[in-house]
Amino acid sequence: MNQDRTWTVTLNLDRSATTSLVEQLRRRLAEAIADGTLAPGSRLPSWRDLASQLGVARGTVRQAYDDLVDANLIVTAGAKGTRVTDHPPRRPVTTQARVRAEAGFPFFAVDPLPLQVGVPSQAGFPLALWTRLSREATQQVLEHSVGYPDPCGEAELRQEIAKHLALARGWVCEPARVFVTSGYGAGLGFVLKMLDLAGKAGWMEEPGYPVTREAMSIAGISPVSIPVDADGMNVERAIAIAPDASLAIVTPSQQAPLGVTLSSSRRQALLAWAGRTGAWIIEDDYLGELQIAGRATGALAGLDADDRTIYLGTFSKTVSPMLRLGFVVLPTELVSRMTRAVAVGMPAPSPVTQQALALFMRDGYYLRHLRRMKSLYQRNAHALRACAWDADLEETQAGLSILLRLRSGSDDQSICAQARLVGLGPTALSGWYADPAVAVPGLLLGVTNVDESSATRVWGEFRRLLT
Ligand SMILES: Cc1ncc(COP(=O)(O)O)c(C=O)c1O
Repeated sequence: MNQDRTWTVTLNLDRSATTSLVEQLRRRLAEAIADGTLAPGSRLPSWRDLASQLGVARGTVRQAYDDLVDANLIVTAGAKGTRVTDHPPRRPVTTQARVRAEAGFPFFAVDPLPLQVGVPSQAGFPLALWTRLSREATQQVLEHSVGYPDPCGEAELRQEIAKHLALARGWVCEPARVFVTSGYGAGLGFVLKMLDLAGKAGWMEEPGYPVTREAMSIAGISPVSIPVDADGMNVERAIAIAPDASLAIVTPSQQAPLGVTLSSSRRQALLAWAGRTGAWIIEDDYLGELQIAGRATGALAGLDADDRTIYLGTFSKTVSPMLRLGFVVLPTELVSRMTRAVAVGMPAPSPVTQQALALFMRDGYYLRHLRRMKSLYQRNAHALRACAWDADLEETQAGLSILLRLRSGSDDQSICAQARLVGLGPTALSGWYADPAVAVPGLLLGVTNVDESSATRVWGEFRRLLT
């Protein structure tokens, strides 16, 4: 990303140390570049200015900068000043980025690592096409109006999303029920606020997406952990444990993180419970249209005759989380309340980005992209699983990851911390459980950024961490 960032690097030089000031400065700057504190393309102060700030000789800073130029970490470009190179050599993730990553999944503001889950293929993003569509979108949006956009989202995109749901998710809904968001997290937070269920209980899958559990807690809802088995969330158990819950949040298409599908009888039981008790269901369909093994099931919301299901979709997995685009489809009862509330709480993202996506969908690129990504991920998964036999561990396909079950007592979190030090990003299964007493160790290996040519190497590096 080629932009100037606020200078956040602290350069505390130790004048009593045996290490020279040049070396201290060089190391500190190299570290900041490696961990992303100094982003690719960001500008460094001139050596004169920095020397004056630090109270050191100009030659000291100049020498440190020269060493960094030699290491291809920075470039000097005349009047444009000194900048971090656009593509500094990849280093193990260190300090700040690692601290962020250790805070748990998802990894924020870290470039996708091989084996990282939850991100699409970097190489698969259709950059040239998206750049063209963005230009067209900018023109279409800005040449017509400098008025305020519709906070519910651009009409054309809402229409395209409704069309897509009918085609890909087997569910016909009116565009007026579709609200554009900046992703699942944003939509979930706002919907929970609007439902105003503080003090009530809500069913939450165990294991389940940690962000969802956190959103429930922030909204004052007590998450009740419901076990997940081969048929998805155990609805019978849920009714037995917490029949009077006001909410259930589920990933019925491909359970996160285990990848199982909510069975037809459990879908019926869940919908019947919500219809009977007046509870809400939130369907997190984060991977609905990207099923790489077998056929995708339709949306749960499409079966809901009582209109109790709030559907949340996202373009983070299918296109890119960098676009920050998702949507909510609301039951009719909530539409007018939401229409009033979004302007002050969750206005839709930039109309320019929305319009680019509308064009991407309208002209058939989205379906083509989905087809290509599905086939790429199938090939990647196949290549990685072909390597994984030598670990002698149970492995299954779980959404866009391979789930390796570790022997009881293994420390999956520590393996993941070690992996990050060598630039790999597997995720610990145990971190997806609320209750440590039932958590089982395992590793989720994302297949999106490990292609056929790198699978053997990546697996080899990863395999060493298992011994
Ligand atoms: C279960 C689940 N839901 C939703 C999302 C997408 O969230 P967002 O749209 O906020 O990027 C993810 C991302 O990894 C996820 O794992």
